[in-house]
Amino acid sequence: MTKEQLLDLIAQMTLEEKVAQLLQLTANFHEGTDSESQITGPMEEMGLTEGMVSASGSVLGLSGAQTVIDVQKSYLSKSRLGIPLMFMADVVHGFKTIFPIPLAIGSSWDTELAEKSAEIAAKESAVAGIHVTFAPMVDLVRDPRWGRVMETTGEDPYLNSLFSRAFVRGYQGDLKDPDRLAACVKHFAAYGAPEGGRDYNTVDMSERNLREYYLPAYRAAVEEGVEMVMTSFNTVDGIPASGNEKLMRGILRDEWNFDGVLISDWASIHEMIAHGAAEDDCEAAYRAIRAGVDIEMMTPCYVHHLPALVQSGKVDEAMIDEAVLRILQLKDKLGLFENPLRAADPEREREVVFCEEHRQVSYELATKSIVLLKNENHVLPLAQDKKVALIGPFAQSEDILGWWSCEGVKEDATKLGTALEERLQAGNLVMAEGSGVHSITPEQVEEALQAAQQSDIIVLALGEESAMSGEGGSRTDIRLPEAQLALVKHLKQVGKPLAVVLFNGRPLDLHGVFDEADAVVEAWFPGSEGGAAIADILIGKVNPSARLTMSFPQSVGQVPVYYNRFNTGRPLDPKKNEERYVSKYIDSPNEPLLPFGYGLSYTTFEYSDLRVSSEEMTAELPLTISVQVKNIGVLAGVETVQLYIRDISGDVVRPLRELKGYVKLELAPGETGKAVFTLSEEQLRYHHSDLSFKSDPGKFQLFVGSNSRDTLTQSFRLAASN
Ligand code: GLC
Repeated sequence: MTKEQLLDLIAQMTLEEKVAQLLQLTANFHEGTDSESQITGPMEEMGLTEGMVSASGSVLGLSGAQTVIDVQKSYLSKSRLGIPLMFMADVVHGFKTIFPIPLAIGSSWDTELAEKSAEIAAKESAVAGIHVTFAPMVDLVRDPRWGRVMETTGEDPYLNSLFSRAFVRGYQGDLKDPDRLAACVKHFAAYGAPEGGRDYNTVDMSERNLREYYLPAYRAAVEEGVEMVMTSFNTVDGIPASGNEKLMRGILRDEWNFDGVLISDWASIHEMIAHGAAEDDCEAAYRAIRAGVDIEMMTPCYVHHLPALVQSGKVDEAMIDEAVLRILQLKDKLGLFENPLRAADPEREREVVFCEEHRQVSYELATKSIVLLKNENHVLPLAQDKKVALIGPFAQSEDILGWWSCEGVKEDATKLGTALEERLQAGNLVMAEGSGVHSITPEQVEEALQAAQQSDIIVLALGEESAMSGEGGSRTDIRLPEAQLALVKHLKQVGKPLAVVLFNGRPLDLHGVFDEADAVVEAWFPGSEGGAAIADILIGKVNPSARLTMSFPQSVGQVPVYYNRFNTGRPLDPKKNEERYVSKYIDSPNEPLLPFGYGLSYTTFEYSDLRVSSEEMTAELPLTISVQVKNIGVLAGVETVQLYIRDISGDVVRPLRELKGYVKLELAPGETGKAVFTLSEEQLRYHHSDLSFKSDPGKFQLFVGSNSRDTLTQSFRLAASN
């Protein structure tokens, strides 16, 4: 439909019908759905009329081709103007074929495969009747106490922006293709920086810090054409995001020219009352509509109060029309006026959803997302003739999909024990639980010790339950549960090689595990094919290549700890640790246990011959940087060569490291490759104290290496532009 046709349609709508288009409800408000919808937030008595429900513009958490077809037909049969219902859901890392959690996908540093995973998620969702996904979540994070770090790709704005774009491309493609979804970037803005790492808590930072680190990945999604943005629960500079005009109208719409749909998070408009930014739902509605929030998710502030606010003249009806137009434009882009059922198709649903081809991509992405954190004495990969004791609460766990596993079925997940049994020689695997996630009994310990004693090597599968991260899953103690640490101690006594596999949704405090183990494999929540992916890495069929995108702290006492930190005026010189009056702890190193970009391989890569094309670059003349990388091991492997810079002196202090690029080199044993980077003046720009975004002439350092810590370095200058 043309804009004029949509405007004509709006002109035919009553004020109540317009306002109802702004209301989003869960599935159970719509007849024909006996399925318990995904309740992902507080449900409250909403006092809705039948008219409000039957005219509500969109529904969340409802899927299943036949159910969607039935609901849409029933809905349209009661729709005076034939405006179709829009179906939205949280397809965050897969619909039924579940991919590794985004923090794992980020560790792959593979944006192409990330895009492919989103495309597959879109296809499975579309045939099941979904039109819009509440993804990608691109909140930058620096605090592993926060449960939702599992949902993001990490602590770096540049890498998060690359993944943000990749996910939007994967979900949306060309929306004329009914097998795609409109994407919704979230949570705008800076939801990942709550004080204390406590979910929904206050976010307070300078606008400069917000723009420099927290906004780039949302902006990248907008530039990539994302159709929807979701407001965040938190305050930004003292104002809840859902009523924050400066953030929503000033930055998102006016500065970034976003003209898509802005949706609240669940109840976040109503929650302005609890925040103390509205006395009642009427004031909350007023602030939200003025901020440009188009859809209210699961609270009735708009439907109960906007008509009266318009009739009283406090809100111009044009503001309502603007919101309705954006919603109808999205429905039109999705082709819903021509075909309200879009791709919903029970037959195709049976063929496409959770098909072998999709699971294979999930497996491949999982193998590229699993990080080898330690491997002393080449304990891994497991030798074929070795007897293996697989012990721990995650040895045969199906809880490996993660918190946002949408329609994923845990029972369908490939378990580690089953996968290892298929891969090891008959009789070479013995399994024992050893402990629960939170509990341990003498009988479990005894069984584990027996299994360990009759084996050559112990593989210990430990971790967090998926409910220990995700929304509402913040922790103050980010170690493994005591019961599992006790199991490590028991098994350490056996004196055999000990390899630990971790299933978790956040960087952990690895006290009681990392030093005790000979090898540590970070599997995150690896998705539907996770067990197979981990097993193939353990036996060496796949050489691990993933790299951390969020620092692992020594302990929660260090948090927040992140790689792109400032130097301070009294930096600690690690060679002079006895100095007192420097920025340090007296009971811990400053450095994280494992830095951003870190990850091991079964082979070894040697860096040499770092070269820069010139000692001075200009806006017109970028720098070319190259380094030789040699595989000096006996196995082929993939190395992610990382380029960082440091601006030695700026208008404001600048980070010790900033990721500016990376190159993946696949090298056979003995092979030497060359990584080449181009560094432009634009990449040296940053937000100055007056918020201007530009580079400064002066001295820079560059660093190239396998992570943000272990690098070769060179200096260069940026000349003043003439
Ligand atoms: C939740 C989450 C948001 C999700 C929404 C709908 O509270 O914050 O990420 O998309 O509600 O389920």
